[in-house]
Amino acid sequence: MRMPSLSHSDQISIADKARQARSVVGENLTPAERRSLRQQAGDLLSREDAVLVAHYYVDSELQELAEETGGCVADSLEMARFGLSHPASTVIVAGVRFMGETAKILSPEKQVLVVEPQAECSLDLGCPPAAFGAFCDQHPERTVVVYANTSAEVKARADWVVTSSIAVDLVADLAAKDKKMIWAPDRYLGDYVKRQTGADLLLWDGSCIVHEEFKGEVLSNLKQQHPQAKVLVHPESPASVIELADVVGSTSQLILAAQQLDSSYFIVATEEGILHKMRQSAPKKTFVAAPTAGEGATCISCAHCPWMKMNDLQHLIAVLQSKDTEVVIDEEIRIRAAMPIQRMVEYGRQSA
Ligand code: 13P
Ligand code: SF4
Repeated sequence: MRMPSLSHSDQISIADKARQARSVVGENLTPAERRSLRQQAGDLLSREDAVLVAHYYVDSELQELAEETGGCVADSLEMARFGLSHPASTVIVAGVRFMGETAKILSPEKQVLVVEPQAECSLDLGCPPAAFGAFCDQHPERTVVVYANTSAEVKARADWVVTSSIAVDLVADLAAKDKKMIWAPDRYLGDYVKRQTGADLLLWDGSCIVHEEFKGEVLSNLKQQHPQAKVLVHPESPASVIELADVVGSTSQLILAAQQLDSSYFIVATEEGILHKMRQSAPKKTFVAAPTAGEGATCISCAHCPWMKMNDLQHLIAVLQSKDTEVVIDEEIRIRAAMPIQRMVEYGRQSA
């Protein structure tokens, strides 16, 4: 069975949007300016009864601010759980659009703001709801499993939503019940889950523009230069990179492995923002980014998510003052999308 592929114009528009995002990343600040902005943001969070929920890929300043003000820095599953359980009346999400939408879907009574409404995700962009709906219609016998990195509309079409932390376990459970599945949108993660579980998955043809750049051959050379190194890989990466991994997992699973594995040198194949938390939680260990460029290139690793990098202190302050980036979701779609997300949260809780 052929997997649907994105049209040439869809691929160009994802690349254009990524270029646009790269061009608006904020200017450098002096340490004194940073301190003052951080203080201002902290004061505003408390004055507005708001809690900051940040992903591991955003700027280290935002990660630290989230933690020191009683919010959290987490993977996408934990971000969803945290916003739901926290008593603050406003949740402010530093990450990308689908993370804000997930928080709103689960907590409709709260005001959910995003730090940067233009922060998207190539997986979400690569799975347009109408085309995905038509694809599902062609395969009504299949259970629809979608990755969290999708729009509310796509989730509303799903039976299950998953994050990378539970994808293998959940698909294995469904396969054990003889379910055949549609998997969307990440073909690399889908391919990995398929190899791990032997499940019958029909894959959508999406990818993460950051992780698909990791290069297996160059990583293998780097590994030979550092035979003591352990390799940590996010499963949105190509199979040639996953093959070299000591641990494959979600962002929080990789951070845990960095703390627990008996090695002092790690090569990390995921967005470089994660290195902040790894260095913080295992300060005596060395973490280097896995290569995204071929031999001889000047940039060894450019694993920066352009959309995650749009989140910064200035935007956070502006949003707390204006409240003009509220996430709004059509109520019918929200109700439908809430079901598979709640299933995911419940499944994650049981398997924790
Ligand atoms: P996690 O669920 O592992 O945090 O991943 C989210 C993501 O966007 C990875 O690129
Ligand atoms: Fe999306 Fe990739 Fe960025 Fe994660 S790193 S938010 S999957 S584009």
